Parts: sequence; structure tokens; C-alpha cells
Amino acid sequence: MLGGIGNRTLLNLSKSDHFRIMPHNLDKNKKIYTTVGSLKKAQTQRKEVFAMRYKVELLTGIRPTGDLTVANYLGAVAPIVELQSQGVSPMVFVADFHAITDNEPATARQYTHGVVADYIALGVNPQKADVYLQSDIAGEVTTFTALLARHVSVAELLRVPTLKDKLKNNARPETANALLLLYPVLMAADILLNRAKKVPVGEDQLAHMEVTRLLARRFNKRYGELFPIPKVLQVKSLRILSLKGEGKMSKTNPGGAIFLTDDAKTVAKKIKAAETAFEGVMNDKLESHILVAKGLAKTESERDEVEAIIQAHKSGKPVMGQFKQLLTHIVQNFLEEFQAKRAEITRDPSYIPSVLEEGVKVARKNAIETLDEVRKVLRFT
Ligand code: TRP
Repeated sequence: MLGGIGNRTLLNLSKSDHFRIMPHNLDKNKKIYTTVGSLKKAQTQRKEVFAMRYKVELLTGIRPTGDLTVANYLGAVAPIVELQSQGVSPMVFVADFHAITDNEPATARQYTHGVVADYIALGVNPQKADVYLQSDIAGEVTTFTALLARHVSVAELLRVPTLKDKLKNNARPETANALLLLYPVLMAADILLNRAKKVPVGEDQLAHMEVTRLLARRFNKRYGELFPIPKVLQVKSLRILSLKGEGKMSKTNPGGAIFLTDDAKTVAKKIKAAETAFEGVMNDKLESHILVAKGLAKTESERDEVEAIIQAHKSGKPVMGQFKQLLTHIVQNFLEEFQAKRAEITRDPSYIPSVLEEGVKVARKNAIETLDEVRKVLRFT
């Protein structure tokens, strides 16, 4: 992932185009997202202006680059599942071209079907969601990427904060591959081919969304009203830390991460070694453990139990041992259910391919329609 840009944006993204989204289990009001600012007016104005309608209500891409952690579930998957339960039909695709910007193609391929199985076992329902593989519409995606790329300058792409950070920290222009430069253009292709309305993204993807919106506006200005402008559904970033407290929980920090593939024994061992806080003290690590406990808890009473222990802790009682026991129990239950479901899903090796085959029908139709129009306005048919 191209990450860590804070909230700098490439262009000024108006606040009114932002949604905020809260992971379901953690929001007291049970309201999962709220519109910030007055969108209504802008939307009605836009309706008159744009002949083009949104085709997909909610679109999200996942990079097939490794095993998921519980932090991935809470931050990226749970919000989609929650929206799905509210009647939204999400479109979810495996972004394998994005994955190969900084991973071996063989690695991306190795994880492709697995990540689909993970998402389904975590609650993405193929009856409601269209799930597809980006490279199954490779012709449309790459053609459109090329056509979009000639509407943005190299200088503009070099100014994208995520790329700048990456070139400063772990890559150099001499060695970074050129696909990295095209990363946001490729993302614009996914979104605009589908004419997606809302794209749920974490903070690290905001700059990329700005490139998408910039390209859509540019196309509209130069060739007529072609694209409805996609909106950012900003997923509130959960600060899920490594169990050991060194940075974020991520697969690059395996000792402090709980993977969805971990067995009960491994979970117990990892949580046992986790750092907490002294009696009466609240710190980042403990707050992160509480987020995990409440986010993965299956029932309200379990969440109440977590809350009661934390209250006791705050009043100075030595309850961290008890807290760890409860956290272990909650995580083990969550993973046991997930792993059983995943095993069931993958028992039939033709199931995931059949899901992707169905999903790509919708994506392909959208992509062909959009690309036809683009070619027409460019007189490149
Ligand atoms: N860049 C996204 C990530 O790293 C993945 C992605 C690719 C994506 N194309 C997209 C997300 C289009 C949303 C919409 O998480």
C-alpha cells in the first residue's frame, strides 16, 4: 500500500464531498456514516448538469498481497459488510494490477482467490455484492489507464503525496518502477469505468481519490459531461496497534499482529505477550486492544463485559489479566467462526472462480459501455 500521507490532499477536496464512516460495533449511535456539510444542494445541481448517471453505489478494491489481519477486517471489511447489511450492494474487486506495483506478479496471483474467500467468509455476500478480478477486464482497464494517463502530466503525478513519501522513504526514482507513477491513474480507471458513486477509503488513499476526481473533471471539461464525480466515503481510521506497541498492526510486523489464519494457541500466546497499561492508566496500546475486543465481540453482553473491566481498570483495580483472558476468548471465537466459514467456502474449488465469473459480467458491461463513450469523444474508435 502506498501509505502514510496524513490528510494532505493533492487538490482541495471540499469538505462537503466527504462522508465519514464509523465501524459499526464501535459507534454508540449505531449510525455508520454521516454526511459532512451540505451535500444536498450540490447533488441536485449536479443532477441537472450530468447526463451521466452513477452506475455503482459503492466500489472498493483490495490488493492481493498477503494474509489479512484483524486490523484489516476492522478497518476495511467491516464497514463494507455493515453498508451491505443496510441494503447497499457493494462492488468489490481484487486489484491485482495495483498489487504488482510493489509485489511480484506471482505473489499477487498466489493471494488472489484467497482474498476473495476471506472477504466472503467475513461477510461480503456474493448474492448482494459483485465481486470481480481487475485483470479479468484487463483490456478495458489498461486501455482506459492509457487514455486517462495522457490527461495528467508527469509533474502532477510526481506531486502526489503518497508517491513523494514513497520516493523519500523506501524507493528512489532510479529504482522505483514506472507502474508506481501510474498507480493513481489505474485507480481512476477502476472507479470511472464503473461510474462509482462512493468509494470507501482510508486516509492513505485520499490523494489517489483526488487524482480520480481531477481526471473526471478534466474529461468533463474537455469532452462534455461524461463522468459523475465519485465521492470519498472516508473510513475513520482505527488506530489498531501492534500488540507489542511498535507501530501499527500489520503483516510487516508479524509478531504483533493477529492474522485471520492464526489458531487458538497462537492467539493466546500473542495476547499473553501483549503490552497493556498500569492500573488506572489509559494508553494507546490498551485503547487499541479495546477496539479489537469490542470490534470482534459477537454479542452486546461481551461488549458490556469489556466495558466493565475497563471501568474497573480505570478505577485502579488490577484487572489486566482478566482483560487479556476476555480478549483472547473474543478473538478465538471470532477466528474460529471465520475459519470454519472459510473452510466451507473453499471446499469446492470451483466456488470462488464462479463468484468472480458472475461479478465480472457486471463490471465488464460497465467498462465496455464507459470505454465506448470515451473512445467516441476522443474520436479513437
Ligand atoms: N489503492 C487501494 C488500496 O491500496 C486499492 C484500490 C485500487 C482501490 N483501485 C481502487 C480502492 C479503486 C478503491 C477504488 O487500498
